[in-house]
Amino acid sequence: MLVPKVNLKYLFVLIVWIFVVVGTVYVFNFIVIYDPSVYVGGGDRSKTALIRDYLSSGQYNQLVDVANELELLVDPMRERDFNEVVRDIETKVPFLPLDFWARQTLIGRKKMKPQCGKFPSIFELEISNDFWQTQRSSNGTYQLFGAYLDNRKSNANDQWYIRILGMIDRVDTHLPMFCQIWYDQQEKPVIVPLEQYHYIWIKSWGNAFNGEYQPYLLSCPIPWDHRHLVPVSVSLAEEQCATATNNLKVMYSRPLDNKKKLFAVCVKGLDFLYQDLSVRLIEWIELLGILGADKIYFYDLQIHPNMSKVLQYYKRLDRVDVTKLTLPAGKPNIPGLQHLFLSQRLYQKRQNEIIPYNDCLYKNMYKYHYITLLDIDEVIMPKRDIKSWQELMEMISEKVDHGSPLPFPSYNFRNVYFLDSHHRPDRTSPDTRDIPEFLHMLQHTNRAAVYSAPNEHVKCIHRAERIVTLHNHFAMECLQGSCAANEIEVEDAQLQHYRSDCVTTVQRKCDNMTEFYVPDKNIYKFKDELIKRSLKALHQLGFLKPKSDTTISP
Ligand SMILES: *[C@@H]1O[C@H](CO)[C@@H](O)[C@H](O)[C@H]1NC(C)=O
Ligand SMILES: *[C@@H]1O[C@H](CO)[C@@H](O)[C@H](O)[C@H]1NC(C)=O
Ligand SMILES: *[C@@H]1O[C@H](CO)[C@@H](O)[C@H](O)[C@H]1NC(C)=O
Repeated sequence: MLVPKVNLKYLFVLIVWIFVVVGTVYVFNFIVIYDPSVYVGGGDRSKTALIRDYLSSGQYNQLVDVANELELLVDPMRERDFNEVVRDIETKVPFLPLDFWARQTLIGRKKMKPQCGKFPSIFELEISNDFWQTQRSSNGTYQLFGAYLDNRKSNANDQWYIRILGMIDRVDTHLPMFCQIWYDQQEKPVIVPLEQYHYIWIKSWGNAFNGEYQPYLLSCPIPWDHRHLVPVSVSLAEEQCATATNNLKVMYSRPLDNKKKLFAVCVKGLDFLYQDLSVRLIEWIELLGILGADKIYFYDLQIHPNMSKVLQYYKRLDRVDVTKLTLPAGKPNIPGLQHLFLSQRLYQKRQNEIIPYNDCLYKNMYKYHYITLLDIDEVIMPKRDIKSWQELMEMISEKVDHGSPLPFPSYNFRNVYFLDSHHRPDRTSPDTRDIPEFLHMLQHTNRAAVYSAPNEHVKCIHRAERIVTLHNHFAMECLQGSCAANEIEVEDAQLQHYRSDCVTTVQRKCDNMTEFYVPDKNIYKFKDELIKRSLKALHQLGFLKPKSDTTISP
C-alpha cells in the first residue's frame, strides 16, 4: 500500500515539473518567434510593426536601417521629352495645333518670317480656362472653342468652309475679320475674309446684350485652289497680316472608309457635382444602347466622382466619349461656384450649352447619319411594336419623306412627363415584381395624361448632313432649304421626360399634368434586357454591395 502512495507523490512532482518546463519553452519560443528584433528579415507586417515600435521608442538609428530595406511606393514615371509632353497635352486639349506647332518649331519655320500673317507660337496664344482662345478686336472679344472643316456636299454651290465655334461679347456682330488658314508644307497662311457670323441665339430669348458672351459660328470659305489640301489650323484676326492670339487646330475626322454609323447622342455640359446620379446614368446609357445609340458624347463641367467612374467605364467600352468643358472668360469654373452660377443665371447657362451641342455636331457629322441632343432624364421612346431607333427612322422615312430626294432635316418628338409624383409602386403585380427598385425609368411607368404642347420642350433627331447650327430643341440654320422639323405623331414615338416636377410657362398646365396621369409601359419592351445590362454594369462598377456587410465587421 505504501509503494503506490510514494509513486503517486513523485508522479505528481514529475507532472508539475514537466508542465513548468514545457510551459517555459513554449513561452520562450513565443518570445523568440515574435520578438521583432530577431525577425528583421520577415514579412511587411512585422516590418511595419518594427517601424511603429522604433518610432514610439525613439530608436531612429535602427529605424533608418529598416527603412532603407523598404520599397518606396512612388510613381516610377520618368521625365518626358518634348514630343511625349505634346502627345500628352493633345489627349486633353483637342483644339491646340500642337503637333503642327511642334513640327514648325523643329524645322524653324518662325525664322522664315513671312511678310503677312505670322504663325503664332503656342506660347503666344491667349488661352483661357484651358479650352478657349481669346482674340481681342476693335469691337468685342472673341472666345474661340473649336474649328472644323466642313466639306459636306450639302453646302450651297459646293463651297467648303472652316467653321469656327465660339462666343463673342457682342450681339449680332458683323465686324469684318480675316481667317488665316495654315496648311502643312506651306510657308504662308492662306488669308480669306470671314464670310459670315451665324448668331446661334434669338434676341428675344433673353440676355442679348453687348458685353455678355453670345454663341456664334463663324464661316471661313476655303479657296477653290486649296481643296486638294486639308487645312491644319486657323487663326482669326482683324488685320489681314496681324499675328493672331488664337490658332485653332482644324478638326476633320472622316472615317477612312467613309462609312457612317447611325446615331450619335450629344449631352450638354454635365453639372452634377453634388448629386450622385450614377444609377440613373447607367440605366439611361444602357437603354439608349438598346435603342441603338452608337455612341453618347458627354461634356463634363463638374460631376460627382462616382459618375466620372461610370463614364470612364463606358468610355473603356467605347460606348461613350467624354470631353472636359469649362465656361469661357471670367465666368466661374471653381467647383461649386460654377454650379451656383449655372443654377442662377439660366440664360447664360443656355447660351453656354450651345457650344457643346454644336461642337458635338461638327465633330461627328461625318461619322453618323443622325445626331440627337438629349439630357440624361430624356428618352426618345418608339411606340407600339417598334423596337429600335433604326426601325423608327425607317418607318418615319417611309411615312413622312416618301423617298423624297430632300427629306426633312429634323424630326421632333413631343414631350411628355413621367413625374415622380405619378409613381405608384406595386410589388405584388407580376409585371413589376422582378424590377429592381432602383431602376428609375423601369419603375416609373405612369405619365402625364396630356402631352406638352407641340414644339414645347421637344427634342429632335437631326440629319447631320443638313444642319449648320443647333440649339437644344431645334436646328437654327440648315443647308438645302428650310429648317422646319417634322413633328412625329405620338402614336409612333414620344420624348419621355423623367422629372420630379413639371416645367411649363403656364402653371395651370402643370397642375393638370401633375394631377392627371395614365399608365405607359412602352419601356417594358426592353425590360429584361435593360435589367440584365444595368445590373451587370452596376455590379462591375462596384455599386452593388450586400447590406449585411456593414454589420459583419466588429
Ligand atoms: C460694335 O458692335 C455692336 C454689335 O454688333 C454694334 O451694335 C456697335 O455699333 C459696334 N460699335 C462700333 C463702335 O462699331
Ligand atoms: C387637362 O388638360 C387637357 C388638355 O389640355 C384637357 O383636355 C383636360 O380637360 C384637362 N383636365 C382638367 C381636369 O382640367
Ligand atoms: C460612391 O460615392 C460614395 C461617397 O463618396 C462612396 O462611398 C462609394 O464607394 C462610391 N461608389 C462607388 C461604386 O465607387
